[in-house]
Amino acid sequence: MTVREILKMGDARLLRIAEPVVVFDTDALHALVADMTDTMAAANGAGLAAPQIGVNQQVVIFGTDAVNPRYPEAPVVPRTILINPVITPLDDELEDGWEGCLSVPGLRGLVPRNRRIRYQGFDLFGDAIDRTVEGFHARVVQHECDHLIGRLYPTRMRDLTQFGFTEVLFPGLGVADDD
Ligand code: NI
Repeated sequence: MTVREILKMGDARLLRIAEPVVVFDTDALHALVADMTDTMAAANGAGLAAPQIGVNQQVVIFGTDAVNPRYPEAPVVPRTILINPVITPLDDELEDGWEGCLSVPGLRGLVPRNRRIRYQGFDLFGDAIDRTVEGFHARVVQHECDHLIGRLYPTRMRDLTQFGFTEVLFPGLGVADDD
């Protein structure tokens, strides 16, 4: 399919509340997810939300089948297409972790997220997804679903001194991408 342009922070389209998908397994929905998959792969992203390519629908993808070069220390998260997601924190425990975003290229920030969550939603065919996860997997899901309510990770940060350029914060990472 097509590698699409990724909108960057400052674009008002990233601030919208996304609409739920009402009909599953359509050609248009398959085409959207194919474009998102190609766009995420081209950018070595850990996840991508439809609003990031200007499509205001509740569709996110995340995960990889192998180690992500942008997050070489991160555990593998299963490749997932998640539609109309609902997140339920399982307790009050927050955990700080470094995040980047393809819409905020070149930067990383330390972001508190719920450590343990349940997430529910649907796949491309309208079949239910219901998982209980923790740690990095939970972080990725929270980050991507935030895109569906117009939130970018800097707005979740508590300490803006922990926000900076990836190449400065992590000089040994050797990331070749712009993020
Ligand atoms: Ni993002």
